[in-house]
Amino acid sequence: MIPAPDFPENARRRAAELRREINFHDHRYYVLDEPVIADAAYDRLRAELAELENRHPELVTPDSPTQRIGAAPREGFVKAAHRLPMYSLSNSYEMEEVRDFDRRLRRLFGRDDELTYVVEPKLDGLAVELTYDHGRFACGSTRGDGVTGEDITANLKTIGALPLAFLPGDTPPPATVDIRGEVVMHLTELKRLNERRGAAGEPPFANPRNAAAGSLRQLDPRVTAERRLDLFCYALGFHDLVDCTAQWEVLELLERWGFRVTPDRYRATGAAEVIDACRRIEARRGELPYEIDGTVIKLDRLKLQDEAGSKSRSPRWAVAWKFPARQETTRVVDIVIQVGRTGVLTPVAVLEPVHIGGIEVHRATLHNFSDLAEKDVRIGDRVVVERAGDVIPEIVAPVTAARTGSERQIPPPAVCPVCGAPVAADPGGIMHRCTAGLSCPAQLKGSIFHFAGRRAMDIDGLGTRLVDQLVERGMVQNVADLYTLTGDDLAGLDRMADKSAANLLHAIDASRTRPLGRLLFALGIRLVGEHLAMLLAARFPDILRRCPDRETLEAIPEIGPRVAASVTEFFAAPGNRQVLEKLTAAGVRPEVPAPPPAHQPLADAVIVITGTLNRPRAEVKARLEQAGARITGSVSRQTTFLIAGTEAGSKLEKARQLGIDIIDENRLNELLGDSDSAVAAPGDNRRGGGAGSGDDTAAGNGAANPPSLPLLTALSRSSTTEPEIS
Ligand code: IVH
Repeated sequence: MIPAPDFPENARRRAAELRREINFHDHRYYVLDEPVIADAAYDRLRAELAELENRHPELVTPDSPTQRIGAAPREGFVKAAHRLPMYSLSNSYEMEEVRDFDRRLRRLFGRDDELTYVVEPKLDGLAVELTYDHGRFACGSTRGDGVTGEDITANLKTIGALPLAFLPGDTPPPATVDIRGEVVMHLTELKRLNERRGAAGEPPFANPRNAAAGSLRQLDPRVTAERRLDLFCYALGFHDLVDCTAQWEVLELLERWGFRVTPDRYRATGAAEVIDACRRIEARRGELPYEIDGTVIKLDRLKLQDEAGSKSRSPRWAVAWKFPARQETTRVVDIVIQVGRTGVLTPVAVLEPVHIGGIEVHRATLHNFSDLAEKDVRIGDRVVVERAGDVIPEIVAPVTAARTGSERQIPPPAVCPVCGAPVAADPGGIMHRCTAGLSCPAQLKGSIFHFAGRRAMDIDGLGTRLVDQLVERGMVQNVADLYTLTGDDLAGLDRMADKSAANLLHAIDASRTRPLGRLLFALGIRLVGEHLAMLLAARFPDILRRCPDRETLEAIPEIGPRVAASVTEFFAAPGNRQVLEKLTAAGVRPEVPAPPPAHQPLADAVIVITGTLNRPRAEVKARLEQAGARITGSVSRQTTFLIAGTEAGSKLEKARQLGIDIIDENRLNELLGDSDSAVAAPGDNRRGGGAGSGDDTAAGNGAANPPSLPLLTALSRSSTTEPEIS
């Protein structure tokens, strides 16, 4: 008899089978770089699993491949303590220091015979710890200070080379094991990312390490997912019953479990072999697609590692040998000035091309005019250029002895080199900016790209290439011009098929009614990030027509004098006013948050939010505040209730201990949304003095001003439902 396809047990079995298969193919693709399935067939497996999980949401497991991306943004990172400290390494720069290291250990063990070591590349990325329970990825964190890091589980899951589950094999997974490794960004990916950042007026990452760190510390895992990261594992932390006696075996075991382990590893006995291995790895440096900045030399036998022990921050049984910094001299042909999205002027040295560590260097950033003056680099100077593990070369210093007197200094310009508007120095004099705002053509490309960004107006398909063309052909002179583009306009562009033109026009049209907060963020007002943009939209729904004055803005606890000045200046600039009028004329009608109700159902409630919510945290916060609540960061006896999303951690625990009411996102939506009882509240608007003042002691007046009736009603309905915690 054929079993009913939807019979729950069959669905469960099929889901498990699909997960195993997808994990197998992920390993072939991301770890071994040897896929054994066509993309389309792989996509079909994923689609089938997604469909199955859709129909049977109870079958979704945290280690399902469908859970790699899609976790909602969070507001901050939760601390995560390491079960065993994550040490760093002492560095050595000369081979003699490596010999000393070996001599020290032999003396320590009182041995005349040679010791065996494992020599591995020192990967230039970010150290992470991954916890696997029964072979399933449970959580992961950054190294932090070595004792406590930050929980970055959702971001780590987006890395294809991270096994969500161990490969099946002879070595069964232990009940729990911490695995340590390095998250790296490949150089091609860094280049791609930096190009995008340049187009958006953002400063480039100087090296893959900063880029990997920046990408892992994203609050929105979807941003991490876009940055293709790689992961190499090299050690065990805390573990249950892992049967290995040597580092070499650990690496082999990790490989069998499905982790990516460096292929450039050597088992070397005695100092001479160690040095030979170091040289071999050094020779590979220029060929590897990712950056390594030295080698790590580890005693092979784990028992000996234990015996050697550790100093305060680094083990005695391992040492890093750092490659020499790569320096060359060349000549500064010119110093050009780049203008970024926010108008910041960056002096860039144009160099006579020079090879440094396998890369031909043409340019070097001089960061800002203050740095430039300090280094006193001049056009015509011979300079020492260095790539100290950095992809972006640095000018170390000019060779002043080689000066002829014909060199030229470049002071900060008085006017923008692109549009001629006056340049102003920031307070402190480090940054110089073009004051023209959105009407400066050089800022235009970056600002349009930012405007179209996913977290801004979310215009799908408007990438850098297209923006470049639109600006270079004069078709878009400000963001408002996007809204008057026609199919005929787009037809003339390179690589623009009818279908993509129609899609783009549709995406532009759909963005007309994005919420006001997104529009404010999209406009790229200096110092106004997503959160402040939402806040401004909630407080000042009329801001596009009438910007509040500085005093009014500063009366809001989260807005300080610098932000208030930046906002008022933005709206006062005639160029910006014109663009705003054009946006309105072109039919951009941002959705405006509903005005605060006269009766605030959550007046005086003190609320803590934790875990991952489906909606952006800032949006939820704004809605709660509108209803009169005050949001605080930590759970205390003053907390009226805790809103717990998925993956809630210590705050949830604390709320339980203190007997504080906990509600999940559904209940919250009821509370805020259509639930008639939550909105049509009798009672005063008690917001004001205490609740909004940001003064923690004011939170204690829960007893004097009890939460309003509907809130209590809502809570009493919720007190039995706790969110499901994974
Ligand atoms: S072993 C106590 N192996 O180097 C042993 N670390 O300076 C330390 N690193 O925080 C970890 N490649 O981020 C080890 N093959 C490798 C490594 C490596 C890079 C980093 C790691 C660590 C830092 C210590």
